[in-house]
Amino acid sequence: MRTQVAIIGAGPAGLLLSHLLARGGVDSVVLETRSEEYVAARIRAGILEHSSVELLESAGLGGRLRQEGDQHRGIYLQWPGERHHLDFVDLTGRSVWVYGQTEVQKDLIAARHADGQEIHYEVSDVELHDLGSDRPHVTYTDKNGLDSRLDALCIAGCDGSFGPSRQAVPAARIYEKVYPYSWFGILADVAPSTDELIYAWHPDGFALHSMRSATVSRLYLQVPNGTDPRSWPDDRIWEELSTRLGHGQNGWKLNPGPITDKSVLPMRSHVRTPMRHGNLFLAGDAAHIVPPTGAKGLNLAIADVALLSKALIASVKEKNPALADRYSDDAQRRVWRCTHFSWWMTTMLHTSGDPFDAELQLSQLRWVAGSRAGATGLAENYAGLPIGY
Ligand code: FAD
Ligand code: PHB
Repeated sequence: MRTQVAIIGAGPAGLLLSHLLARGGVDSVVLETRSEEYVAARIRAGILEHSSVELLESAGLGGRLRQEGDQHRGIYLQWPGERHHLDFVDLTGRSVWVYGQTEVQKDLIAARHADGQEIHYEVSDVELHDLGSDRPHVTYTDKNGLDSRLDALCIAGCDGSFGPSRQAVPAARIYEKVYPYSWFGILADVAPSTDELIYAWHPDGFALHSMRSATVSRLYLQVPNGTDPRSWPDDRIWEELSTRLGHGQNGWKLNPGPITDKSVLPMRSHVRTPMRHGNLFLAGDAAHIVPPTGAKGLNLAIADVALLSKALIASVKEKNPALADRYSDDAQRRVWRCTHFSWWMTTMLHTSGDPFDAELQLSQLRWVAGSRAGATGLAENYAGLPIGY
């Protein structure tokens, strides 16, 4: 098989890239190890920043997002006895949208189907070859067990943190930080108890109240690494969430409900550079991971792809390699901004048991919530810098 761009991975980065390339007149074929049903159902991120929404809309993917998504002006920052609203629209003129990654993924799959995009699901043994040449190719075993080969002008590695693409960049420089805590996430069939997300510092650990819709809540608790979700009965989860989120504080109540999903997510920061080797380009989680406290993972994947699609269209159609040559440096600027912001939110809100650290965190939270300059810094980063930053 032959195409212009071989895309490895049908997550949000891979599918959005194939969509943007098609709009620019460049053909691609997507290879994915999992089934279509599996990738469409994975529960992951929940927040789209301003620029992500603009990009999805400009690519014709904003219809359901506008109808079913929920625009939020900001977030609540809280610690025992205090809850403060940060209004991003007042502070920066930018908002965020609650629209689950599962919904983004479904919209992308529908759009790619409508376009007749070739996506090969349930492939295995994916290997990348001859990346330094102008004849790079990918070999794999297809769904029916047949050995297959895909030739392309270039390859986009959008296969997340466990795929083969990141390993194919030799002598990559890797920066990594592993945090000493994880998130225990639940999905519950109950109306959210808040209009906008609550990020709560508490001596027992961080908690976050997020949501997916008017009837589905998404909540997280800081837990020690290695926590087994089965060791937490539902009553204990709601009790801990009530304590940390301040049930009873100024009359606020957390409404419990049936829990439909439980998972534990370890937290790490990981950046690898360069994001290119020969004719292989990395995008999304294949190149970087952030802890979820800044809600940046999905947004960063979208921002990478916005740059990469332009670079590949210029390179393939106009034979102009300038943007492709700059891609890694251009993308890394935003990657490091989001890596810093995600680390900053994480270290400000998660407790370590050290009383000195706790006082510093509370001092920082009071400053962020109480100073327009502090609040604007958080708002600018959370609601997202313009694509191309
Ligand atoms: P992915 O979504 O990982 O997609 C990569 C795709 O490549 C997958 O479909 C995978 O099956 C496929 N693949 C892997 N290996 C191969 C191979 N060998 N051949 C072909 N295909 C392959 N971010 C937030 O902002 N907030 C959150 O709450 C949040 N929660 C998360 C929870 C979990 C469990 C995880 C893993 C991530 C979470 N993230 C969250 C991060 C966010 O979901 C990712 O940043 C986002 O999915 C990145 O998109 P991507 O397309 O780069 O990678
Ligand atoms: C989510 O809704 O899953 C979510 C929201 C905000 C975050 C992380 C996760 O910072």
